[in-house]
Amino acid sequence: MRILVTGGAGFLGSHLIDRLMEAGHDVICLDNYFTGHRRNVQQWIGHPKFELIRHDITEPIRLEVDQIYHLACPASPIHYQYNPVKTIKTNVMGTMNMLGLAKRVKARFFLASTSEVYGDPDVHPQPEDYRGNVNPIGIRSCYDEGKRVAETLAFDYHRQNGVDIRVVRIFNTYGPRMLENDGRVVSNFIVQALRGEPLTVYGDGSQTRSFCYASDLIEGFIRLMNSEHTGPINIGNPGEYTILELAQTIQGMINPDAELIYKPLPQDDPKQRQPDITKAKTLLGWEPTVQLQEGLKQTIAYFRDRIEAE
Ligand SMILES: NC(=O)c1ccc[n+]([C@@H]2O[C@H](COP(=O)([O-])OP(=O)(O)OC[C@H]3O[C@@H](n4cnc5c(N)ncnc54)[C@H](O)[C@@H]3O)[C@@H](O)[C@H]2O)c1
Repeated sequence: MRILVTGGAGFLGSHLIDRLMEAGHDVICLDNYFTGHRRNVQQWIGHPKFELIRHDITEPIRLEVDQIYHLACPASPIHYQYNPVKTIKTNVMGTMNMLGLAKRVKARFFLASTSEVYGDPDVHPQPEDYRGNVNPIGIRSCYDEGKRVAETLAFDYHRQNGVDIRVVRIFNTYGPRMLENDGRVVSNFIVQALRGEPLTVYGDGSQTRSFCYASDLIEGFIRLMNSEHTGPINIGNPGEYTILELAQTIQGMINPDAELIYKPLPQDDPKQRQPDITKAKTLLGWEPTVQLQEGLKQTIAYFRDRIEAE
């Protein structure tokens, strides 16, 4: 198959491309390099089945493809809040352009949505039919409301134009190729500990998160894309940890003498988030297999190399 991956030079997109290339597909990676890097797909540059296109999805593009994995959108608050108007344009105009393309060439369309559509949830853990508790005018809205609109667009193109869609709601995922400066908690703690700096905990560290390893997530993507279910389907690791537990685990693995410092919680930061993955288990036969310690080991090794290469 010929497969388009938008945001393919990013963290998750590049892991997806590795899997698709290894399976022998023709892959087109499309990215504007806002948070993505050529180095993430370097291993495929020059391969006859791989194409790399610099393009901003807020502009339309014409391509012939069988499947579209639509991941382009900055994912971490630092980057999506850098230019919030651009973020919402990417989510709305960008998703419309990609759905328009899917409609024209009859490609199957996969949307990378997010657990952020649940906002600061008052149901725990979150099943897919929970409608969320989202602030429409907050500083995270360009991202979480943007993704809610992206989901709406996908379902409207599906109902009105028969576009074949798949929607995944991704929960916190980590692994090699995350950006070291994007403020996400796993990369933050690892990079701070490797540099011998104190680990910054926001709030008192009692807020919880779940952490899914990249390879587990990508397995879920591929199963959903090739299933008969539109979704939305939650993909994430239900293992729940407090931020303090995560900090202490990473501290223990890198530098037991590293100091922990506390800073105020950012606005609209959810207190708790954990996926209900019943649907993924029953419909896709999917569940995470990589334990936190193992995933952290791989991620630490990646950041150690990057920091040494600086
Ligand atoms: N990593 C997570 O934990 C997580 C959680 C929930 C949802 N997601 C979603 O998964 C997708 C990928 O996330 P990621 O963690 O790999 O982030 P990332 O920032 O590494 O990747 C996003 C990619 O999209 C590209 N991009 C951004 N705007 C673009 C535009 N207008 N045109 C073309 N390319 C553009 C970036 O350059 C980057 O390569 C995103 O849609 C994100 O919302 C990720």
